[in-house]
Amino acid sequence: MANSVPASLKPFNTFGVEATCNELISFNDEQSIQSWLKAEKPALDSLFILGGGSNLLLLGHIPLTFLKTNIQGIEYSEQDNGDDVWVVVGAGVNWHQLVLDSLDKGYSGLENLSLIPGNVGAAPIQNIGAYGVELQERFVSLRAIELATGDIREISAEDCQFGYRDSIFKNELKGRLVITQVTLRLSKSLQPHIEYGPLKQMLVGETSITAKKVSDAVIAIRQSKLPDPAQLGNAGSFFKNPVVTEEQYQTLLDAFPELVAYPVDSGHYKIAAGWLIEKAGLKGYREGDAGVHEKQALVLVNYGHASGQDILQVAKQVRDKVLELFGVKLEPEVWIIGEQQIFSS
Ligand code: EPU
Repeated sequence: MANSVPASLKPFNTFGVEATCNELISFNDEQSIQSWLKAEKPALDSLFILGGGSNLLLLGHIPLTFLKTNIQGIEYSEQDNGDDVWVVVGAGVNWHQLVLDSLDKGYSGLENLSLIPGNVGAAPIQNIGAYGVELQERFVSLRAIELATGDIREISAEDCQFGYRDSIFKNELKGRLVITQVTLRLSKSLQPHIEYGPLKQMLVGETSITAKKVSDAVIAIRQSKLPDPAQLGNAGSFFKNPVVTEEQYQTLLDAFPELVAYPVDSGHYKIAAGWLIEKAGLKGYREGDAGVHEKQALVLVNYGHASGQDILQVAKQVRDKVLELFGVKLEPEVWIIGEQQIFSS
């Protein structure tokens, strides 16, 4: 059954900012979501689907009904080809718990994605990625409920239109579905992805690399650079790494030979936004309780009592300064929810 909970969103966003909504309703299974939709017939634009709240910046009062899925369950099934194992996971399962559970069972595939905050249901929305692996490489399909009709939809990997921190759920299907279950493909054998510099360095000298060792190394790297939201409010990378044309890249490189960038395809480069922000002198920059993290300039933090607007203010400073110095426009990676859409184009 659906049950109403207080409308404060502070416990439900990893920035830890005070924010409220009209109503927050949590669901433990698909049927209760369907029954609620049938009974209430809510307008689509009156709803917001909340995952783990780890990729959101909430601004003040948000006059919407927030729906939260707590659907649990992790079920593995070994496939006939011998090496593949599919895992069907409830959207409300904590992502890192899934990673640890799969490693405990001896299955690999998710080790590079260790310690990413948030829930399984939110992972496909931004195609979570870290240390050389993106969710899409392990994604099979998902189940979702269409808010307009209450119908169940099965969506394949191809239909998700995954891109860098992007999917159909941030575009065409934005605000139209509640993801209830995700199916991923794991492996019994390990295909290690340890090309990412710091990961390679950490595993140097290891004679037998296991998924658990890769996971431990990823956890150590994350803990050394990224603040734990339980101790210091944050939502991971605040901005995406901008992708620029080869021409823009060359101009930047001429001006800043130490620029950090990676080729994406024949005509494009991805620039390390953390490098741009640090070079702009903003690493560790602070206005009251809102600031740029001291160890990873791409992460904005709440030192205690910052509001969503305070963090937005710092984000705006960062964006403006980077644009002024480098001519590169940073786009937020987090979803900014509330009246003031200063980042909307
Ligand atoms: N850098 C700096 N100064 C900084 C931060 C970074 O100079 O303050 C430079 C360094 O040269 C560093 C490079 O930027 O080598 C890349 O930094 P890092 O390896 O920390 O990764 P990132 O590009 O800043 C991305 C993801 C992270 C993910 C890491 C590792 C995005 C927006 N962010 O960050 O994802 O953990 O790579 O794969 O793509 C997230 O999405 O919330 C997130 C944390």
